[in-house]
Parts: sequence; C-alpha cells; structure tokens
Amino acid sequence: MQGNRVHGSVYTDEALFQLELERIWYRGWVYVGHESEVPNKNDFVMKSIGPQPVIMTRDNGGEIRLLQNRCPHRGNQVCLKEKGNTRAFTCPYHSWTFSNTGDLIGFAFPDGYRDNPDADKKRLGLGVLPRVESYQGFVFGSFAAEGISLAEHLGGAAETLDRLVQTSPDGKIELTAGYLKHRARTNWKFILENECDGYHPAFVHSSIFSVADSAIGTYYGDQSTALTRDYGGGHTEVDLRPEFRKADIPLRWFGTTAERLPAYVEAMNTAYGKEKARQIMIDGTPHVMIFPNLFIAEIQVFVIQPISVNETIQHATAIQFKGAPDLNRRMRQQTMGSVGPAGLLLADDTEMYERNQRGAESLTPAWLFLGRGEQRERRDENGYMVGHSTDEVPSRGIWRHYTQVMEAQS
Ligand code: FES
Ligand code: FE
Repeated sequence: MQGNRVHGSVYTDEALFQLELERIWYRGWVYVGHESEVPNKNDFVMKSIGPQPVIMTRDNGGEIRLLQNRCPHRGNQVCLKEKGNTRAFTCPYHSWTFSNTGDLIGFAFPDGYRDNPDADKKRLGLGVLPRVESYQGFVFGSFAAEGISLAEHLGGAAETLDRLVQTSPDGKIELTAGYLKHRARTNWKFILENECDGYHPAFVHSSIFSVADSAIGTYYGDQSTALTRDYGGGHTEVDLRPEFRKADIPLRWFGTTAERLPAYVEAMNTAYGKEKARQIMIDGTPHVMIFPNLFIAEIQVFVIQPISVNETIQHATAIQFKGAPDLNRRMRQQTMGSVGPAGLLLADDTEMYERNQRGAESLTPAWLFLGRGEQRERRDENGYMVGHSTDEVPSRGIWRHYTQVMEAQS
C-alpha cells in the first residue's frame, strides 16, 4: 500500500500469500466456529483456519478446544466427519486413537512400540491450539502461544457483536442452520474488502433489490445517510442505523414488518419491555467485517477461508434465535434466496471477485485507487474513522492494518 493506492500484485503474489498465512492466519486471532455448534459435552465440528483443518471439540469437562486435524504419525486426517459426538478420534490410516482433548490414548498393535523411548504418548498427541477465546459465543483461535488478548484484537468492534446478540430475545444467537459453501477463483482480500464496500450494492445488486422489492437497496445510494466505519485492527462496518432510525419502523433491516413476525416481537417485548424492544428492532443487526475472516451480514454469518493465492471458500449460514421460530424460518428462506444455489446476492458478488482477480493477474498489474471519500472522512464520537456509505473508509482501514501486521516481526 502507498497512500491511497494498493498494487495489484498483492492479490497474486504466491510468496506474499505464504507470508500472510504465517503472519495473519497462523499468528493472530482467527474466527473458527460458534459455541452453539458444539452444545453438548463431547460434541465436535470440523472447521478450518485458512487451509489448515481444525476440529472444534467440547471436551468431557465442557471446555471448548481446537485441535489440528492431522495425525502426528504420518499426517493423515484423524477426523473425516463434518460433525458428531465422540470422546475419541481414531486415525483411519494406522488406527492411533486420540481423546477429544488431543491426547494420544493408544497405538494399534502396541507391541511394536514397546521399550522405544521415543514412543512417548505425551509427545505424540494432536496439535492443540494454544489459545482459544470466545466472545458472545464466537470462538476464536490462535496458533501462537503469545500475543494480544481477543478483547484487544476485537477492540471497538466487539460492540457490534453485542448489538447482534441483543436482537435475540435471550441475548444469544445460534449458528445451527447448516452451511452453504461457495468457492470463488479469487484472492481472499477481494472478499474481505467487498464485505463493507458500500459503493457497489447500488450497481451489482440492483436486480435482487428490485426483484425482492426490498428497501435495503435505497440504503446504499448516493443519498444514503448510512456510514462506513473503520474500527482499527482491520475491522470495518457499514452502519445502517441512521437509515433505519430515519424510517423508524421495527424490522426494516430484515425487510419485513412486525405484524408478520408476531412470535419474535412478542418474545422481544417480554425480554426487554416494549420501548427498548422497539428501539432494538429498529436498529437491527450489524453489517460488520471482523478481520480477517468473520463477516456478519445482518441475517447471515460468512466465514472467509483462503485455500490458495487465487482460491477462496466462503461458508455462509443463517443466524438463528431461540424462541423466534417465525423469524428463524424467514432468516433461512432469505439466506437461501440471497446466498443459496439459486441466490442472486452472492452470485453477483462472486462474479465481481473473479473479474477483479483476472484484472490483478493481467500482464501489467496496476496500482488500484482507494481514495473515494478521503476528503470527507472524519472521526465519530468514539474516535473511529467514518465516511459516507459509499466511501472507501473500510478498504483504507483494512490496508492500514494489513500493512502493520505484515511488517511486524512478532
Ligand atoms: Fe495416523 Fe498412521 S497416519 S495412525
Ligand atoms: Fe455485494
């Protein structure tokens, strides 16, 4: 990055991608999964940190652990199931068995290891991520034993997760509706930047806005009062609350009306009292990108998974609330309609990501200009940089943080 420009080669350089894995994905905090995906003791779910497969388990004591899904014998994958409940994983290759805390429990045909001082079970367990912390149910992990706390990593962006969970009657969300996976031929950073790019929706998503007859489209135009925000740490937001507050209609963020979701509204009124419930339902859920891979898009959670320098998977799931079956059903329907196999929203974005990538791969990679709104950006009351909804405040924030992390030696 140079001032307000970033060079196209950052999306194509293989060596840079390897350095990103080391400095961003295997050193810092990365979102892995949600507590609701392993509700019971001995539950597990298969996850990943970038290209690395990871098993998220809840052990017999109820603690959440992140294990590398890689056998220390010959490197096979010890868990092949998406999710389940087990106290032990047995490697399919030579049948070594590991507990769900990662310890090696036993060798198959153990006689061959008798009297061998190196066949020390304590040293031959699965790799265990040294740091696991969660916030509002979102579980993050780090491969580095030392570093800043999760609270420091999230900084001011933690407040967006508070805002998300308070839209649920019981103050918690669940990510239990299953995942849609989309593979795109693009570098992960094009997706990272796009999530809070408020400039493109008016053009790229105009068809779904008109077909779905949704008010959301008007929030992304030149006349919008929504804000883009840079929280620092690479975390960015499109804050649509100014628009929602102007409309003063509960559930505008969801594109519906209170009359159509009586069970949800009732549960919210009971939980918070009518006045507060109304305010929460007007403000809605956030549109926030937590660096480097957790994107909350009002009603969905997306996880960005880089596979290689030019290949990225997005995992998408509908957010679910306890005690709101009517809202949950519609969240799932809208998720299918926007990011499902026939969904328009993600298909439109993906076409853009893939074309961006081809542009970056051209013979003469160019400097890309990120200067939109530089002259009108300002600090908000909390000291975070904000701009017009269509301004490139988020991209500039991401690149500032990226440069800092990539240049840091430890
Ligand atoms: Fe796992 Fe041999 S590779 S037991
Ligand atoms: Fe988009």
